[in-house]
Amino acid sequence: MFSATLSRLRCPKCRGGLKLPPGAEASTADILSGALDCPKCRTAYPILAGVAVLVEPVEEYLCAHAKGISKLVKDSEIPKQYRRAYQEALQEMREMGPDHIEEDLESDRVNALYLMNHYIATRDLDFAGPDPMIREWVAKVWDKGPLEEVAMRVAEIDVPGLSVVEQGCGVGGLARRIFQKKGDGRSYLGVDSSFASIALARHLNLGAPYGAKIQYPADLIEGVVSKAFPKILPLGTTDVDFVVGDLSVMPVQVGSWDVAVSMNAIDMLENPNDMPKSQAKLLKPKGIAIQTGPYIWHPEVAKNLRAQFPKAASDSATMVKELYLENGFELAESRDQIPWLFFKHHRQIELYSVHLLVMKKKG
Ligand SMILES: C[S@@+](CC[C@H](N)C(=O)[O-])C[C@H]1O[C@@H](n2cnc3c(N)ncnc32)[C@H](O)[C@@H]1O
Ligand SMILES: [Zn+2]
Repeated sequence: MFSATLSRLRCPKCRGGLKLPPGAEASTADILSGALDCPKCRTAYPILAGVAVLVEPVEEYLCAHAKGISKLVKDSEIPKQYRRAYQEALQEMREMGPDHIEEDLESDRVNALYLMNHYIATRDLDFAGPDPMIREWVAKVWDKGPLEEVAMRVAEIDVPGLSVVEQGCGVGGLARRIFQKKGDGRSYLGVDSSFASIALARHLNLGAPYGAKIQYPADLIEGVVSKAFPKILPLGTTDVDFVVGDLSVMPVQVGSWDVAVSMNAIDMLENPNDMPKSQAKLLKPKGIAIQTGPYIWHPEVAKNLRAQFPKAASDSATMVKELYLENGFELAESRDQIPWLFFKHHRQIELYSVHLLVMKKKG
C-alpha cells in the first residue's frame, strides 16, 4: 500500500486511525510488508506482498484465503502468531486437490475471467479464439459492459478532487478506466475480500511486484489457464490504491467520499440491504452511489427480500431501487439491459443482462 492511502483507512474493529510500519511514513514507495497497527484496540493488520489485509479476525481471514495468499507470500512472511493455523489451512486445501468451484475468487481460473473482462479490449480480439460465432458476440458487446458504463458516469461527475471508493472492486479494472478518462486530482480506493484479486489490481494498476504467472484460458486441453496475459502499463499514480476488506465492515473513513461504486456484488451478500446502508454511510451528503447487478440471488436471500419489501417484490431492479430509497437516497438514473460478457474459453461464453442504478444521497 501507499503511505498516502493511510489517511483514508480506519480499523474495521474499533474505527480508530491506523499507524504505518516504522520508517514508512515519509516514503512514497509502495509499502510491501510490515503491519498497520491500531493504537486503540491493538490489532495489527498485516501487509503481505503490498496488500494491506484489513479484516478482523486476521487469523480467520488468512486461513480462509490461504490459496490466494500462498501464491505470492512465503510462509515465513506470515506473522508468527498466525503461521501455524495458516499452514494447517493450506495443507488441508492442498489435500483437497484442484477445485472447480465457479465462485472461488482466490483461484487462477476465476481471476483470469475477470482479468480479461477488466483489462482486455475488443481490439485484442485474438483472445476470443477461432470460432466466428464467439468472435461475433465478443465484437458486439465486449466493450459495452458495466465497467465502461460506470467509468463513463464517474468521468462525467464534475467535482474537483473527486474521491471514489469501490466495494467489491475485484481485479481493479474500473480504477484504470476512470483514470484513463479523467484522472487529474482524483483519488480512488478499491476494497475487496479476495486477496488474489487485490494483489492483481495492485500489480496491474500500480506496478506492485507480482511473483506468479498471469495467464488466461484458451483451449482447455492446454490446461485451465494457458495463455500469457499481456503486459499492462501501470497508471503511475499514488492517488489510486486497493486494500483487502469486507464490504459490510469497510475499513475506511465514513462520510467523506464523493462517489461510492459497487458492481455486481450486491447479490453475493447475505443481506443485500448492507450495500446501500454502507454506501450511505461512506458518502458525503449529496454524494453519488453507483450500483450494478445481474441479480443472481440465492433463493433464501430472495425470499427474505420479498418478505421485507413486499411492495417492491415485482422485479429485482425495483427491489434494489427500493433498498436505496429506504436508505436515504433519491433516484438519479436507472438503466437496464447492459450486456456483460464473459469469455470462459475457446468454446464457451457467458452473457449477463445487468441493471445499473445511479442514486444521490439526500443532502
Ligand atoms: C461478481 S464479482 C464482481 C467483481 C467486479 N466488481 C466486477 O464487476 O467485475 C464480486 C466481487 O465482490 C467481492 N465480494 C463479495 N463479497 C464480498 C464482501 N463481503 N466483502 C468484500 N468483497 C466481497 C468478490 O471477492 C468479488 O471480487
Ligand atoms: Zn482498532
